[in-house]
Amino acid sequence: MSLKEKKVVVIGGSSGMGLAVAKMAAAEEAEVVIASRSLEKLRRADDEISQPVETRSLDVTLEHDVKGFFAEIGELDHLVVTAATGVAGRFLELDTPSFRQVFDSKFWGQYFAARYGAQRIREGGSITLFSGVAAAKPVAGLSAYAAVNGAVEALCRSLAVELAPLRVNAVSPGIVDTPAYAEMNPFERKKMFDSLAARLPARRIGRPEDVAAAVIELMKNGYATGSVLRVDGGYRLV
Ligand SMILES: NC(=O)c1ccc[n+]([C@@H]2O[C@H](COP(=O)([O-])OP(=O)(O)OC[C@H]3O[C@@H](n4cnc5c(N)ncnc54)[C@H](OP(=O)(O)O)[C@@H]3O)[C@@H](O)[C@H]2O)c1
Repeated sequence: MSLKEKKVVVIGGSSGMGLAVAKMAAAEEAEVVIASRSLEKLRRADDEISQPVETRSLDVTLEHDVKGFFAEIGELDHLVVTAATGVAGRFLELDTPSFRQVFDSKFWGQYFAARYGAQRIREGGSITLFSGVAAAKPVAGLSAYAAVNGAVEALCRSLAVELAPLRVNAVSPGIVDTPAYAEMNPFERKKMFDSLAARLPARRIGRPEDVAAAVIELMKNGYATGSVLRVDGGYRLV
C-alpha cells in the first residue's frame, strides 16, 4: 500500500517523532497535515520538511477544538497522534494534578483525536496511537506514564475491534532523543542517555526516524491492526 496522495494527519507533527513521521510521509508523496499548539514550532517544522505541508494550530486536549479541527480538514486516510506533555516523578512525590495532567494530555488527547477523526477516515485508512516503554517495563518515577501508556494500549486494542475495518495500532517507543528532553541540563541528559545506551540490547538511544519508520509501516500494512509495535531498543527486556 503506497502513501502517494494519501492524506496523513499528524497531531504532534511539529517536533520529535511526529515531525519525523511527517517528513517520511511527505517524502512518500502523501498530502501531510501537521498540527500542534505552537505556531512557532509549526513554522520551524514547515521549514524543515522538504515538501509542502499544511500546518494547523490545535490543542488536542480541547474536545471542542479537536471536533472543529476534523470538521475543517475533512476526509483523511491516516491519523497519527504523538502529541503529549507531562512530568515524571516518583509516585509519592508527584502531586495529583501532575499525575492527572499526564492523562489530560496523553490519554484524553488521543481519545479526542480518535473519537472525532475516526468517522472521517477513508476505507483502507488507519489510526496510529502513541504508547511508550513504561507500559511494559516498570521504572521508578514513571508510574504516570506506565498508567497512561497502558490505557492507550488497551484503548488501541478495543478500537481495533470496535471501529473495524478501520485499522487501529499503537507504537511504543523506548527512550528517543527528541526535544521532549530539551529542558534537561545537557550534561545530565548526555549522562542519562550514555548510561542507558550501554544497558540496551540496541546499544544506543533511539532516533525519531527509528520510530517514524514503524509508524509508516503500520499505515501501509493493511493486515496490521490492534498491534502495539515496540520500538524500544530492547529496553523492556533489561
Ligand atoms: N521521547 C521519548 O523518549 C519517548 C519515550 C516513550 C514515549 N514517548 C511518547 O512519544 C510521543 C512523542 O514524543 P516526542 O518525544 O516526539 O515529543 P516532542 O518532541 O516533545 O513532541 C511532542 C509534540 O506534541 C505537540 N503537543 C504537545 N502537547 C500538545 C497538545 N496539547 N496539543 C497539540 N499538540 C501538542 C508538541 O507541539 P506544541 O508544543 O506546539 O503543542 C510537539 O509537536 C509522546 O506520546 C511521548 O509520550 C516518547
